[in-house]
Amino acid sequence: MTAQAKKRKAAPLAASAPRVGLTPITRDDAPQLFRWINDRDLVRFNSAYQPVHEPTHMQWLEGLTQRTDLVAFAIRIRRTGRLIGVCQLTAISRVHRSAELQIRLGDAAARGRGYGSEAVRLLLDHAFHDLNLHRVSLQVFDTNAAAIRTYERAGFRHEGRLRDAAFIGGEYVDVRLMGILREEAV
Ligand SMILES: CC(C)(COP(=O)(O)OP(=O)(O)OC[C@H]1O[C@@H](n2cnc3c(N)ncnc32)[C@H](O)[C@@H]1OP(=O)(O)O)[C@@H](O)C(=O)NCCC(=O)NCCS
Repeated sequence: MTAQAKKRKAAPLAASAPRVGLTPITRDDAPQLFRWINDRDLVRFNSAYQPVHEPTHMQWLEGLTQRTDLVAFAIRIRRTGRLIGVCQLTAISRVHRSAELQIRLGDAAARGRGYGSEAVRLLLDHAFHDLNLHRVSLQVFDTNAAAIRTYERAGFRHEGRLRDAAFIGGEYVDVRLMGILREEAV
């Protein structure tokens, strides 16, 4: 194992499934996250592309410690510690006991291997059993078959559709609304 791999492995595991773990995001992750947030094809899986400049990115990273409405994790391969993506709960409401879920496997080679499904389950477990939330919702583009299937597998239900709600890559796409209650998590 290289010294760099050893260093990566040092990030403490917050939660783990057979192959991936969720860990806090470290400063060493910043360059990779910066590349991903500026990868146009990757960003367009779930939002319109616009460049994110480094000061803004670093401000977001440093600001994570202050946020009570958001919790973010790095997604890593447990065996090697390799960073493959990020996931987060946003808009956390202590009144409604709800939040919104977002996930991005930035490493294209890591997609389609079941890692996203593991990470979604870990994040839901955190939402329901650490934060004591009651409901988690999300929005997903109608064109994103892999994401829709991943959420369905985790127990999310379809709750509605916003027609032509996003303009992505020169075309309007429908946005699906999905949600899961604590007792529905699988
Ligand atoms: C969406 C994402 C998290 C899914 O994670 P993943 O590890 O690639 O997905 P998994 O391997 O766990 O597969 C989950 C399900 O989706 C299916 N799937 C995977 N890739 C697919 C594809 N390209 N098209 C259709 N279905 C696909 C799998 O077959 C599996 O379903 P099954 O159990 O019925 O066979 C990941 O692909 C990703 O981060 N993509 C880029 C960013 C993104 O789209 N984020 C979500 C925005 S809402």
